[in-house]
Amino acid sequence: MTSSSEHDKPVSLSASAGDIVIDFVNGKLDYRRRFGGGKNQALSKAVGLHKAKQPLRIFDATAGLGRDSFVLACLGATVLGCERHAQVFSALRDGLQRALADAELQELLDGRLSFINGDAIELLSCATNGLASEFRPNVIYLDPMHPPQKKTVLAKKDMQIFREIIGSDADQCELLEAALSFGANRVVVKRPSHAEPLREEVSHSIKGKTTRFDVYLGQS
Ligand SMILES: C[S@@+](CC[C@H](N)C(=O)[O-])C[C@H]1O[C@@H](n2cnc3c(N)ncnc32)[C@H](O)[C@@H]1O
Repeated sequence: MTSSSEHDKPVSLSASAGDIVIDFVNGKLDYRRRFGGGKNQALSKAVGLHKAKQPLRIFDATAGLGRDSFVLACLGATVLGCERHAQVFSALRDGLQRALADAELQELLDGRLSFINGDAIELLSCATNGLASEFRPNVIYLDPMHPPQKKTVLAKKDMQIFREIIGSDADQCELLEAALSFGANRVVVKRPSHAEPLREEVSHSIKGKTTRFDVYLGQS
């Protein structure tokens, strides 16, 4: 990883397969913000943004490259993304700083997107750390690392690099248990479309192109 300030080179995540820079301003995320289907896209429907009568406060327990957090914040939710991997968190923080230096994104995000470094299982399980008393999420969103794809399916390069850095999230069932016990209105888990749910009692699922969102309702 290279360190940087706002004026230097962006922080990059490096692996033998290449580098990743988190860029909320240009490229795929800019395209998705403009043409990604707005509140009709599967992610938005899964968290309930398309029908929300009250502002949504979403705890993204697995922030990763911040893409889902960013999309949800651009659609009007207030999002707190949690990432436990220190280097990934550093790249996220750098990406957000750069986004906030862009006038259009600054206005759009307007204090609605932030990231913290920590383990979401601990944050969700501890009553005194401010997640419940200050941020008060009504939705908890989980997108743990998906199982490796079959050899015949070539994972996108960013995902190959990311998998090399992170590995797999072996404690994803524990994370779901912590999220369900927290008492939010809704817990959403992103899964590959072919994978079994992490837990049986899914209220409903929303299918995207290659992924599925399993929604667990009314745990409060
Ligand atoms: C598949 S990636 C998430 C991708 C993300 N949804 C996006 O749009 O870029 C999973 C990430 O969750 C993080 N993660 C997994 N379990 C976690 C936990 N218990 N606490 C915090 N971060 C966690 C991993 O380190 C990894 O960066």
